[in-house]
Amino acid sequence: MRINKYIAAAGICSRRKADELIVQGKVTVNGAVLDEPGYDVKPGDTVFVNGELIEDTAAPLYYVMNKPIGVITSVSDERGRTTVLDLMPDVEERIFPVGRLDYNTSGLLFLTNDGQFAYRLTHPRHQVPKTYRVRVAGNIGKPRIDRLRRGVDIGGFVTSPAEVNVISWTRHSMILEITIHEGKNRQVRRMFEAIGYPVQELERISVGNIKLGRLRPGQYRKLNPGEVDYLKRL
Ligand code: URA
Repeated sequence: MRINKYIAAAGICSRRKADELIVQGKVTVNGAVLDEPGYDVKPGDTVFVNGELIEDTAAPLYYVMNKPIGVITSVSDERGRTTVLDLMPDVEERIFPVGRLDYNTSGLLFLTNDGQFAYRLTHPRHQVPKTYRVRVAGNIGKPRIDRLRRGVDIGGFVTSPAEVNVISWTRHSMILEITIHEGKNRQVRRMFEAIGYPVQELERISVGNIKLGRLRPGQYRKLNPGEVDYLKRL
């Protein structure tokens, strides 16, 4: 990326002002004063303006978080509720959540500054499988579980086939895992409401083969390059 664009993209000043700063000798690249206004910044270059390090804002960033319950999947909230970004104070770049989890849902959430990545993962055409662990009160019989598997009407929309596995049950409650390939608003809650068993707890445990793993609620980590590649190819 051309140096004036690189500096402007970091929010330091306009491109024209950046050109002036270069002429004034206020810009260094890899320790040397830059004398080439058309310089093309390469990955790994270290750029300073007036002695201030300019971060590469174009570098794509990919995180996975375990979103806790009671946190809003948004970059800001006019009601002052804690957002997922409030949980990432050390990340200075402008990232945003990929899709959303309800306020009362916990689990796996990606965050990025790569709009294309977010678009592809959330676009219905791509049908990325998402697995949720669900707790309901009481025991759901096989006929109703089969309805979830075949597809249920969640109010003007019939869900496509889902995988459903019963993980455990007691006399009072049941834990299931459900994998869906769509992402309608509150879809899992609405599916269980449709069969008469409202969800009591909901956690997203995987997206494709990326799992929540050992991340505790509120913790996050960078996705590794292999994981990013995999998600881009989904
Ligand atoms: N389905 C829901 O009902 N809620 C979520 O947060 C995610 C999927």
